[in-house]
Amino acid sequence: MCDNMIQLNNKCEMCMDCPLGKTRTNLVFGVGKPNADIMFIGEGPGEQEDLKGEPFVGKAGILLDKLLNCVHFDRHKNIYIANIVKCRPPHNRDPLDDEQQACMHWLEDQINIVSPKIIVCLGRIAAQKLIDKDIRITKDHGKIYNINGVAMMPVLHPAALLRNENLLPGTFEDFLKLRELYDEMGLAK
Ligand code: URA
Repeated sequence: MCDNMIQLNNKCEMCMDCPLGKTRTNLVFGVGKPNADIMFIGEGPGEQEDLKGEPFVGKAGILLDKLLNCVHFDRHKNIYIANIVKCRPPHNRDPLDDEQQACMHWLEDQINIVSPKIIVCLGRIAAQKLIDKDIRITKDHGKIYNINGVAMMPVLHPAALLRNENLLPGTFEDFLKLRELYDEMGLAK
């Protein structure tokens, strides 16, 4: 990790900005290449992530890694992954608006350090927080939004794909489109 990201992670370890800080086992800060051209942002840690301190390491994470690998992305090589909130909400409930708001400055700092050309929002919560509060993920997934010069794409959350495998082919299409965009933007190295 680059020095800035390590420093930010260390500061974040002490965060008690919202009540989720009291119930976490581990902070789930982020993983990947700190100067990646593409960043993936989920909603918040689940049980496995809370235990291990890394985003997307449970069943949904295994599926995410498979989708990423199909289009030659790898969490240890060419992408960065983070969440809207860094601590697990109890019983995996959605993070509350206040919790999201309290945690946003950490994500903003991460985005500033990574400075990605493409941001992929994994699921409704991240898409509504970062792209547009009126996004409907089932209708709008796979669309590309240009926000302040960054290409942003909402995709279905991998946990939704585990609940309904009929959604997989459409999401695979979105990942292919993403890879095409990445290549067209000259980001493949
Ligand atoms: N779901 C998320 O949104 N993020 C994780 O890190 C794990 C599951």
